Amino acid sequence: MSNSEIKILAIESSCDETSAAIAVNGKILNNIIATQSVHENYGGVVPELASRAHLLNIVPVVNQALTKASIQRNELNAIAFTRGPGLLGALLVGTSFAKAMALALGLPLIEVNHMQAHILAHFIDNPHPKFPFLCLTVSGGHTQIVRVKDHLEMEVVGQTQDDAVGEAFDKVAKMLNLGYPGGAKIDRLAENGDPNRFSFAKTEMPDLDYSFSGIKTSVLYFLKDQLKKDPNFIQVNQTDLAASIQAALVNMLMEKLVKAAKKFNIKTIAIAGGVSANSGLRKKLKEMEKSHGWEIHIPEFQYCTDNAGMIAMAAHYKYLKKQFVGQQVSALPRMKID
Ligand code: KG4
Ligand code: ZN
Repeated sequence: MSNSEIKILAIESSCDETSAAIAVNGKILNNIIATQSVHENYGGVVPELASRAHLLNIVPVVNQALTKASIQRNELNAIAFTRGPGLLGALLVGTSFAKAMALALGLPLIEVNHMQAHILAHFIDNPHPKFPFLCLTVSGGHTQIVRVKDHLEMEVVGQTQDDAVGEAFDKVAKMLNLGYPGGAKIDRLAENGDPNRFSFAKTEMPDLDYSFSGIKTSVLYFLKDQLKKDPNFIQVNQTDLAASIQAALVNMLMEKLVKAAKKFNIKTIAIAGGVSANSGLRKKLKEMEKSHGWEIHIPEFQYCTDNAGMIAMAAHYKYLKKQFVGQQVSALPRMKID
């Protein structure tokens, strides 16, 4: 490898995956992810356990990324880390590790916004979306419509005012006794169900904002009512329930996305975050390609959920603009995109 190459080590530790990746000239060489299965027993991410697992995982994950890329520490040009948004204790592990490594090696530090990185995952593989585009970022922690003007110039134009859509998927999955995280399980069950069988009341929101707590509550009361009449209601109707709930959530997402596309006259549409793995959402977006003339961009599966590859991609663009931070930097759990 020549000396003029830009080699960046990136670390992600915002929630329950400890991840490290190496970018060379903006090409992601690897993306090592250690998933924390400990949370499954608790029905949700337990912040204290996440921090402890990050501490155990971070050294092996970073070493594996370097070894796999055949890169020595002294060949690196910068160390990048997720500064936020995320869980404070979890973010502190990656932030402190990155700061210590940069200090020891005398390298520049690059802070990355996790939500911006989810969007920049679209630049890992070809073809890249052209600017300006809209990105629907949907995860366990966020639901946002973002107007993306350039790699590092983004504006949130709509977002949830309560639960994230991934949270809604997970909470409903719990009500259907599917365990945690249940989004993907609802997706699988929905394949064989009738999406028009049940309907649920939802909260209407102004402009481009979302609310998912209302529909969650309406599913809860509907199930309680039905279980009084038939204790086996969930078991017997599992696939239709999954399909109907998924369709309702996907329709809510799409309604505001269509509104945003019209408002800003943008037809290049991307999705990002864990829920972008949802097949109902992907199918709806494919239909929009034909009916609305949209150009749809969906990242490769490994870059949809939390990973350091996307952090490395964002860090590459920041390196090109020499956007470095000093050792005084700390984690920022509520970091904003714009
Ligand atoms: O982006 P992500 O990996 O982590 C966060 O930053 O939150 O997203 C995780 C979320 C979880 O709520 C999970 O249930 C949901 O993404 N998810 C899905 C699917 N796969 C993951 N939701 C619906 N359908 C899926 N296929
Ligand atoms: Zn995420």
